[in-house]
Amino acid sequence: MQQRFLVTGGAGYVGSHLVAALIERGDEVVVVDNLRQGHRAAVLAGARLIEADLADAPRLDAILADGPWHAVFHFAALSLVGESMAQPFRYLLDNGATGIALIAACVRHGVTRFVLSSTANLFGTPARIPIDEEAAIDPSSPYGESKLMIERALFWAGRVHGLRSACLRYFNAAGADPAGRLGEDHDPETHLIPIAIDAALGRRPPLTVFGTDYATPDGTCIRDYIHVADLADAHLRALARLEEGSVIYNLGNGRGHSVRDVVRAVEAVTGRRVPLLEGARRAGDPPVLVAASERINRETGWQPRYPDLADICRTAYAWRLAHPQGYGDRGGGAGDDITL
Ligand code: UFG
Repeated sequence: MQQRFLVTGGAGYVGSHLVAALIERGDEVVVVDNLRQGHRAAVLAGARLIEADLADAPRLDAILADGPWHAVFHFAALSLVGESMAQPFRYLLDNGATGIALIAACVRHGVTRFVLSSTANLFGTPARIPIDEEAAIDPSSPYGESKLMIERALFWAGRVHGLRSACLRYFNAAGADPAGRLGEDHDPETHLIPIAIDAALGRRPPLTVFGTDYATPDGTCIRDYIHVADLADAHLRALARLEEGSVIYNLGNGRGHSVRDVVRAVEAVTGRRVPLLEGARRAGDPPVLVAASERINRETGWQPRYPDLADICRTAYAWRLAHPQGYGDRGGGAGDDITL
């Protein structure tokens, strides 16, 4: 049976891939996005886009009133860890406070299911690898803290109002739609794989490796890269699981890859060298983040379809090659926000 969903940030990187998965199931999708980071062209035909800001409370109220909604997926967020260290209140307010206000509005409008795009940044520098859902919470940035604020609000919305929620803590979202319709287009781009690809293509200066003196086998940071289509699938499975109650899942492949591993994988798929500079550590980067995703596998049957770094890099490369200007609508990041 067709279901109806509201997707905030559905014009963004991960959100747009979830919207594609919902459309493929035949569901009705309404995207709310202010298009400051999202792209109109990332909302596939079949979904309706409402250009609105979640901080506009009367507008949000009117949108939610146009229910009923089977569930709300919440992706809209500022998401630059480094930027959040410079502008903490902007993140705590724009992500945290606005997210909490969204949850309150959902409760008022009778929404019963909510799926949150959360982050591994909640775990700071973890004591144990791989990181499961019981690992200590210690956000390493205001960005991570802002997601924790929303997770906690969801906990209380569940306890007091019966709102069921799924908090999905992504590790490193990467890759692009295997069908080539969607990809990663941030401004500025800060993520390793698209930067390495563009450096290999000569479209940007050499890649600076942030730190080569970590206590890891090759001295560079280790991350768990997870294909964005696998993330989208995890959202659908977590949604179904809400019928049994609220859930929290860590989402990764359970495999760690160093920055140098990623460089080698990009070189293999592009057939070009990635020009490199060895630079200083980037503030706030934990040495190793690798997920234990057994819980979502056990409870929902989720399994990554694209666990190999080569496939992740190949899909990312195919999209960058076909879209040298990304979505070609460079409106420029979030620069018009008020800086607190
Ligand atoms: N890196 C470089 N050079 C670059 C860019 C990145 O060496 O030019 C390194 C980083 O230091 C890090 C790794 O590549 O070791 C991955 O960096 P990304 O910026 O691609 O991703 P992060 O691990 O910093 O952060 C990502 C998301 C966050 C999220 C976090 C959770 O961007 O939103 O994963 O683990 F919080």
